[in-house]
Amino acid sequence: MDAPAPSRYPGVYAAWQADPVAFWAEQAKAIDWVTAPQTVFDASQGAYGRWFVDGVCNTCFNAVDRHAASRPDQAAIIYDSPVTGTKRSISFAELKHEVAAFAAVLQGLGVTKGDRVIVYMPMVPEAAIAMLACARIGAIHSVVFGGFAAKELATRIDDCQPKVIVSASCGIEGQKVVAYKPLLDGAIELSAAKPQACIILQRPQVAADLIEGRDLDWTDLVASAKASGREADCVPVAATDPLYVLYTSGTTGKPKGVVRDNGGHLVALNWSMTNLYGVQPGEVFWAASDVGWVVGHSYIVYAPLIAGITSVLYEGKPVGTPDPGAYWRVISDHGVAAMFTAPTAFRAIKKEDPNAEHLKRYKLDKFRTLFLAGERADPDTVLWAEKILGVPVIDHWWQTETGWCIVGNPVGLGMLTVKPGSPTVPMPGYDVRIVDEAGKDLPANTMGSIVVKLPLPPGAFPTLWHQDERFKESYLSQFPGFYSTSDAGFVDDDGYLYIMGRTDDIINVAGHRLSTGGMEEVLASHPDVAECAVIGMADSLKGEVPCGFVVLKAGVNKRPEEVEKELVALVREKIGPVAAFKLAIAVTRLPKTRSGKILRGTMKKIADGAEWSMPATIDDPAVLAEIEEALKTRR
Ligand code: COA
Ligand code: AMP
Repeated sequence: MDAPAPSRYPGVYAAWQADPVAFWAEQAKAIDWVTAPQTVFDASQGAYGRWFVDGVCNTCFNAVDRHAASRPDQAAIIYDSPVTGTKRSISFAELKHEVAAFAAVLQGLGVTKGDRVIVYMPMVPEAAIAMLACARIGAIHSVVFGGFAAKELATRIDDCQPKVIVSASCGIEGQKVVAYKPLLDGAIELSAAKPQACIILQRPQVAADLIEGRDLDWTDLVASAKASGREADCVPVAATDPLYVLYTSGTTGKPKGVVRDNGGHLVALNWSMTNLYGVQPGEVFWAASDVGWVVGHSYIVYAPLIAGITSVLYEGKPVGTPDPGAYWRVISDHGVAAMFTAPTAFRAIKKEDPNAEHLKRYKLDKFRTLFLAGERADPDTVLWAEKILGVPVIDHWWQTETGWCIVGNPVGLGMLTVKPGSPTVPMPGYDVRIVDEAGKDLPANTMGSIVVKLPLPPGAFPTLWHQDERFKESYLSQFPGFYSTSDAGFVDDDGYLYIMGRTDDIINVAGHRLSTGGMEEVLASHPDVAECAVIGMADSLKGEVPCGFVVLKAGVNKRPEEVEKELVALVREKIGPVAAFKLAIAVTRLPKTRSGKILRGTMKKIADGAEWSMPATIDDPAVLAEIEEALKTRR
């Protein structure tokens, strides 16, 4: 057998380093522009420069219309829903009609370029149709994950002030049916900004009550648009106009509205599909995530469609819908070439079917690569997946902020050697450095803060929605000239990056990014709580789960267990089930430094059973023994 050809990665990365503008100008040729950009990068605009400033384009045209013309019958979206027993294939030609009709519905409600539309929907094709319809008319969508509670939705409504909200009567979570409408109504009640209209997709499992004068039925609206032949054309937008706002956890309870623009996003995502994921137009790609997360935005909806690749939209879980063979069935049924999910999904499958017995029922003959991201890919899970599937398992690292991969293994350019535990090397566009607290470069194999030299590449966020100052303060001020990722890690002698954890209070629960600071705000709002600290504890399935320590106010005459229960319910009510907050422990005091800082890092080490040493600055060393004891009795 011939030896595999050497990867083209070193040459491609070097070409980008030598001339980033020429590199991205070349990649931009793969996009259909209304007006092709003459200025690839303008350093004088925005906080760190803007890409393709004079380009004019439409994202929906590139994702839908151009393929509806050239490959009309190819499936654009395959909806596979074991929870409803549905499989539906939507061709590019059909998608164009659906999107154009729904875009006309939005226009009919007065939505125009620059208006915001919130999409609060489960994993149904209508969620993607709503997103693409917004893109078509230049409206800015903001998708909110279904697992968030009314208060979280309300915060987002107030921040982005949508003209219209698109939602559904319910989501289906494994065996549970979750009614969305009461959450939506609750959120609108809580929010100061009120949408002019809500469009509700009635699903057969739950019929939502529609509020007269505000709520409209998706099916009726679309049927009437189709009956009268109303279809919206693609509206040209500036490459730098926002395509969407996606809220992500920050260090406080107020989420950050990550802004994505149109032009850079088109160029970067299109590049990534073939060069990073190694998938070609006409093939099938499956990102098992949710449209409410950045993975869903980039790799369920936009990137595959932009590149003319069929995307699987899966409404189900890795286990329990109906069994741990669900992923293998989907790959086999739809001829998936590459899949992308979070490691937690594979840990769930491994837990229920350690010998992969369910895999024996399926032929995965088209399947070439499994990609993992969203949280640390532990080597055990990577090696297990590799062994049972017999394909490369590729870890890659990125963030909501960047919208696509920072460090990965570019399969399309020729795969590099996989080192389990490392997401491999920087993609073109990213000059990744490890620095100390003063911003000084650190040598190989030394842990430090991971930063990216500015400018960020096309596709990465230019700012936060209506918060330019918070953007600069959160990301650009700590290390001038660099983007601070808030992740820590090191680079080895071969230039492979290792991500070791966050430097802020963000935790990663089943691949979902959550703020412990946000949870602390909720706990502190309980009338019986004097002070509190939330940490992320290692969990063999979800990676991390939150644990809250609370000190009750003097004179509280309830049993501590009663308050603990109320606190668990309060986080679920205020943030949502996705927080997976199941453990609150009442303690008499919290460990602190002499200057009063809570020692969350040490508490986490104790909770994880990791080695820890007594901090020199601790006020009273005995408190840590109390925490250790409390954890022993309560976990
Ligand atoms: N709408 C409403 N509720 C939701 C929801 C949604 N879209 N998504 C999750 N929830 C609820 C769940 O039902 C669960 O509720 P519960 O406390 O009543 O059981 C809670 O939020 C926590 O959900 P989750 O963290 O997903 O845990 P789980 O125990 O239901 O499932 C896994 C665990 C590993 C199977 C699941 O996390 C999974 O499939 N992960 C795949 C990876 C992924 O999607 N990552 C996203 C980023 S790539
Ligand atoms: P999100 O914005 O939800 O995509 O979460 C981004 C964060 O998830 C990163 O800052 C990391 O802390 C973590 N993360 C994402 N991918 C990886 C990975 N491959 N390895 C380790 N951590 C990851």
